[in-house]
Amino acid sequence: MKPITALLSLAALATAASAAPMEERMLLMGIFRTSQTWGCPLQNPELFQIGLGAESPDCRTFYNNTTYAAINVETWVPQCLLTLHNTYDCKDPGIVSGLGCWSPEGGIKGYTATCPWKTW
Ligand SMILES: *[C@@H]1O[C@H](CO)[C@@H](O)[C@H](O)[C@H]1NC(C)=O
Ligand SMILES: *[C@@H]1O[C@H](CO)[C@@H](O)[C@H](O)[C@H]1NC(C)=O
Repeated sequence: MKPITALLSLAALATAASAAPMEERMLLMGIFRTSQTWGCPLQNPELFQIGLGAESPDCRTFYNNTTYAAINVETWVPQCLLTLHNTYDCKDPGIVSGLGCWSPEGGIKGYTATCPWKTW
């Protein structure tokens, strides 16, 4: 965790966004891809882009309650946590995902995106 560095880069992003309002750049919490097939690299990946404004403790499931077997977290801001759950209501403890591609035991039925260290 490098909060100072992250803070600075976020500030730089925010400045860039306000300097170029026409660009409508969304500030991202992160980007991940998922696959219904176990293992890496991902087969037939589906893309998810989570905006910083989407932070919430609420459990999120996927379209049609799809269970994903693998995930590749491509980018994620260090102020936030992507927690993967193997239940639809996220009542299991969950596992905080780091960057990269992996297949959590029990699959991914739900997730939360929270920002315990946010400064915005
Ligand atoms: C998804 O799962 C939840 C919890 O099991 C259930 O209440 C809901 O009806 C399901 N939705 C679909 C589209 O299957
Ligand atoms: C939703 O899930 C059910 C059960 O897995 C499946 O039969 C159905 O085709 C899915 N619907 C869509 C639109 O993907």
